[in-house]
Amino acid sequence: MILASALDAVGGTPMIALDRIHRGPGRLLAKAEFMQPGGSVKDRAARAIIVAARVDGRLREGMTVVEMTSGNMGAGLAVACATLGHPLVVMMSAGNSPARARMLEGLGAEVHLIEQVDGQPGQVTGADVAAAEAAARDYAARRGAFYVDQFHAPEGLAVHERETGQEILRQVGGRVDAWVAAVGSGCTFMGVARALKAASAATICAAVEPAGCRPLAGEPVTKPRHLIQGTGYGSAPPHWDPRLMDLSLAVEDEAVESMRRRLAREEGLYVGYSAAANVCGALALLGSGRLAGEPTVVTVLCDTGLKY
Ligand SMILES: Cc1ncc(COP(=O)(O)O)c(C=O)c1O
Repeated sequence: MILASALDAVGGTPMIALDRIHRGPGRLLAKAEFMQPGGSVKDRAARAIIVAARVDGRLREGMTVVEMTSGNMGAGLAVACATLGHPLVVMMSAGNSPARARMLEGLGAEVHLIEQVDGQPGQVTGADVAAAEAAARDYAARRGAFYVDQFHAPEGLAVHERETGQEILRQVGGRVDAWVAAVGSGCTFMGVARALKAASAATICAAVEPAGCRPLAGEPVTKPRHLIQGTGYGSAPPHWDPRLMDLSLAVEDEAVESMRRRLAREEGLYVGYSAAANVCGALALLGSGRLAGEPTVVTVLCDTGLKY
């Protein structure tokens, strides 16, 4: 098969059984979103937003694209912008991993690192993200550029419902008992939850939150700093629909570090922190007794470990 461009390699990711980490009862399946051109789950939203904006005329030929990103949305946008001929400017908190900035620059993006407000390197808080977002909005307004606005763009959620969710249903080929994912913009968690709940209202949808930073669980935030970059910003994202979440699972930084190593060494999957957090959450759910019989639990490996 010959694809017309790198953009056509977005989506259609494999589903991998984590049979060495979870030996049963039931099965833990992971959608390998890191196997996309930009190296993360965000490639899907990036492509969807850019293509929609070109179709409806908000993004004209050759126009500059601007976004605030933890790095992954930026990489997805960089792939789209390179293939479609748009200059890309990204505002990224300086607390995100330098590997991401290198990749973005390699893909031709102009990267502005925004000083952290209350986080520290490797631990990016909601306030840090808000600072990068303000810089991106300001830049787009001053330069007349297209502002992607991943936290408000409806296409991100829609693409996960229409594509990722349907891919999961086809790949599993039967009942999905539970879906587990960490929440950044919430597009992945909510889009897939919508698709799975439409197929079977009994599917349990569990969000993963860092311990001490669990607004979705309704808890006060006591520890805004954590390792799970790209998620857990300390407040519910703008499109958040609480009806899609049946429960929230807390994960500790130490458990996430250790799971990242296990995924690499036992499953041959070198992935990032949110991927490991998702697997920790899924194992906790499988061990909770809440799922009867031989349950099928699906989660997502959000990005490659090469980004850290
Ligand atoms: C590494 C990583 N994991 C998970 C997510 C969360 O995805 P979503 O924004 O769809 O909630 C992101 C978002 O940027 C991310 O970068």
